[in-house]
Amino acid sequence: SLLLFIAVFLITADYIKNRRQASFPPGPWAWPIVGNMFTLDHSRTHESMTQLAEKYGDVYSLRMGQEWLVVLNRYEVLKEALVNQGDSLVDRPVVPLLDKTTHGLGVIFSNGHIWKQQRRFALSTLRFFGFGKKSLEPVILDEFTFCAKHFSSFEGKPFNPQKVISNIVSNVICSLVFGHRFEYTDERFMRLIRWFDQSLQLEASLWAQLYNSFPLLVNPLPGPHKTHIHITNASKDFIREELKEHKKNWDPSDPRDYIDCYLKEIQTSEAQADSTFDEENLVICVLDLFVAGSETTSTTLRWALLYMAKYPEIQTKVQDEIDRVIGQSRQPSMDDRANLPYTDAVIHECMRMGNIVPLSLPHITIRDMQLGGYTVPKGVTVVPNLTSVLFDKNEWATPFTFNPGHFLNKEGKFVKPAAFIPFSAGKRLCLGETLARMELFLFFTSFMQRFTFYMPPGVKPKMEPRFGVTLAPYPYEICATSR
Ligand code: HEM
Repeated sequence: SLLLFIAVFLITADYIKNRRQASFPPGPWAWPIVGNMFTLDHSRTHESMTQLAEKYGDVYSLRMGQEWLVVLNRYEVLKEALVNQGDSLVDRPVVPLLDKTTHGLGVIFSNGHIWKQQRRFALSTLRFFGFGKKSLEPVILDEFTFCAKHFSSFEGKPFNPQKVISNIVSNVICSLVFGHRFEYTDERFMRLIRWFDQSLQLEASLWAQLYNSFPLLVNPLPGPHKTHIHITNASKDFIREELKEHKKNWDPSDPRDYIDCYLKEIQTSEAQADSTFDEENLVICVLDLFVAGSETTSTTLRWALLYMAKYPEIQTKVQDEIDRVIGQSRQPSMDDRANLPYTDAVIHECMRMGNIVPLSLPHITIRDMQLGGYTVPKGVTVVPNLTSVLFDKNEWATPFTFNPGHFLNKEGKFVKPAAFIPFSAGKRLCLGETLARMELFLFFTSFMQRFTFYMPPGVKPKMEPRFGVTLAPYPYEICATSR
């Protein structure tokens, strides 16, 4: 009877503590203790969350264990929250597993003054290397040349393009931060990419969810979180090695890459008492650029090849446009984009349908907010459901069908609807959007200019996504013939 008493006591205490106030966003009934942990289908969280909005409205709540989440749906709500009231939603919640290795530094999961300084610096450095004399354009085109050799080596036989796509995208980040690329056979490079891949897999695992819900309980146990810490530390050591090399022949007047620019920033801000620029933060920022910039862009490119193999008639139209505007005698350039509206539309439709970051990244309210007629109190985690916008039937003519026409007007000119927000919106908007777009345009256009992609005979492309850190295609084999 003591056990029964404890159970009744816990359930009553849980009920009293966790009751939804009338002004709080509504949501499905939450079980005692575990809340709505089992309300969602965890293999398709983004779809479950989108369906719940039909029943509970565009602003609704869920309780995950003892923590409340507010899920925001549809373009108008996301714009109101992330842009109009963006100041109240600028922070990220603490994710214990990540905090264990990043200690609140870097850009993706930092907050307040550190985030402000590091984000501003990263943006201005990306701008510096994005355009003009130091542009990454030739770097991307060079990287494609290596990739093309690799694709050609299969002579039209089926191959899995995942590894080489991951290499080319990682090499763009390497060029940006380290000032050089790696050969695809370089053991150290392969190891680094494996580490990033492995740590992302761990961050999406059930174990990570358990760790993040009960960090104090899980931390002392043996388990995958120890591997996560180990490989993150190994990646940090890799970056520190590069940093050491950079310092040997550093010329502050001629920065070669992100690390050089950062070293200069450390020096110039030394006298400022509130400077957050130091070598520890540098290492985490570099890590962040890899984590946020590799898997995302390479997954989008893998979707793009798969869609082209699925819709050969769309692929042919893209190739015709490229042949007309660029031809075969030179590589594409960013200046061609304005003249390739159909190709541009196809790239955007791949991003929309790919929906690779379906729930954006979590935010947390730093003061009470009024949203959709409800009060979201300070300190509540908020999920911007990008899926609800990218597949909204009120925004797109055929939301669930691949249709480049979503991005073309009657005259065939490229147009970008406001509801196209795969990079999210507001103060935390993806910091690498410009670089990602440049890579997607140059790589995709080069792929289409030089190759035709199709599925191996008798194989149907599998378009259902695999839910992990990103929504990615299942591993596939494809054939590529030179044009
Ligand atoms: C954040 C999408 C490529 C760097 C984000 C967010 C999304 C996103 C949805 C969360 C925004 C929010 O919290 O509201 C994408 C997609 C990409 C891509 C779809 C490619 C197709 C890149 C690249 C880089 C990058 C290439 C860097 C070189 C970042 C960083 C953040 C971020 C640093 C955190 C920003 C902050 O917290 O202030 N991205 N991203 N991303 N992204 Fe990207």
